[in-house]
Amino acid sequence: MSKIIVKKSPSLKGTVRISGSKNSTLPIIAASLLTDKCCILKDVPKLMDVEVICQVLASLGVKVKWLSNDSLEINSALLLKSEAPYELMRKMRASFLILGPLLARKGKARVSLPGGCAIGSRPIDLHLKGLKALGANITLGHGYIDAKADKLVGSRIYMDFPSVGATENVMMAASLAQGETIIENAAQEPEIVDLANYLSNMGAKINGAGTNTIRINGVSELKGCTHTIIPDRIEAGTYMVAAAITNGDVIIQNVLTSHIKPIIAKLREADVKVIEGTDEVRVIGNNPIKAVDVKTLPYPGFPTDMQAQFMALMGVAKGTSVIVETVFENRFMHVNELRRMGAAIKIDGRSAIIEGTKELTGAPVKATDLRAGVALIIAGLVSSESTEITDIYHIDRGYVNIEQKLSNLGANIFRV
Ligand code: EPZ
Repeated sequence: MSKIIVKKSPSLKGTVRISGSKNSTLPIIAASLLTDKCCILKDVPKLMDVEVICQVLASLGVKVKWLSNDSLEINSALLLKSEAPYELMRKMRASFLILGPLLARKGKARVSLPGGCAIGSRPIDLHLKGLKALGANITLGHGYIDAKADKLVGSRIYMDFPSVGATENVMMAASLAQGETIIENAAQEPEIVDLANYLSNMGAKINGAGTNTIRINGVSELKGCTHTIIPDRIEAGTYMVAAAITNGDVIIQNVLTSHIKPIIAKLREADVKVIEGTDEVRVIGNNPIKAVDVKTLPYPGFPTDMQAQFMALMGVAKGTSVIVETVFENRFMHVNELRRMGAAIKIDGRSAIIEGTKELTGAPVKATDLRAGVALIIAGLVSSESTEITDIYHIDRGYVNIEQKLSNLGANIFRV
């Protein structure tokens, strides 16, 4: 079982290039099921999660081929099956994003109920509410969801919560439905906009992506296209925090600064210097870090996917900070691990109260989910002695070559 060792590191210095967004790539690969023509994707991050959804598509008869280290060709002409293997689907929640496109393309789909995970029960009621509103007949049983629809008809759908995945599943299915679909209280994340741009490049008629109301006018068929995935705003935020916590000076290249406004704002409130360029951002540490409060919210609020990383930073800030997690019900799994490293954190319901300490101490810790794992690496950079992180498969799901990118910046980090 491999693990990552992080030792106390000097201030990070240099430049790092951000890869394509994982959370944009996964729905866009699923959307490629909507056409029988060939699609080419560029700036695709070569991550475990991306490999898994490619395996899911291949199990349906789709031809998926890596043209280079970061470009993918997908051809769904031979989309023969409408049921993906149970065990394969269960490996990753986001495989559930094939439900909408598969239903729209084949008129039926059989997918396994996505598992919950460490951060919460992850229900799918809003996905099913949306697809039912489009005319799908959905039954659950034996761990599977069976969806059937002779034809999908546009409808008005209100999202009780602006769910990213549910908005994506409905938007994809509605692209081939008859008539107009209006999604109200839709998710507004940049990944929704990237998916909408991809679908529009395929010939879909979508307006309002990025706002809380998205209108889709269904078309009879979609064509292939070439699309470049947007940069990963959470990977960018992760390296910004790593630069700040080590009092470093790092240029993070290939970012869309409009996507990371809340992260920039909170780092500036913590007295970190952030200089915005056109497609890069420079972060200059300015110790001591000032304690600031954060509340995670759906976009454009502070992203829940940056909560654990920011908590590591607040662990060594000057003062007390309060972090409120409003999106997931159990996204504090990293707290116990950070406590092992000497962080002084109290939890009260959805709030964590962090008393900044001068220094953390290295310890054997465990990654419990993707972002929790990377938060432990960030804390390890400024902890005395060394930090040993196990269950690092979580980290590999979301970060391309993280130890290379960090050691290129001067970090003492290696995988054994
Ligand atoms: C996406 O997950 C991301 N994953 C998550 O990133 C991210 O944390 C999340 O959006 C929120 O931004 C991908 O894009 C692959 P949601 P998703 O549906 O779509 C509730 C990472 O680290 N909900 O917006 O599953 C749900 O319980 C991952 O990269 C319902 O109640 O998130 C949660 O409390 C982690 N019913 C809230 O909405 C539903 O039908 C947000 O979930 C669906 C969701």
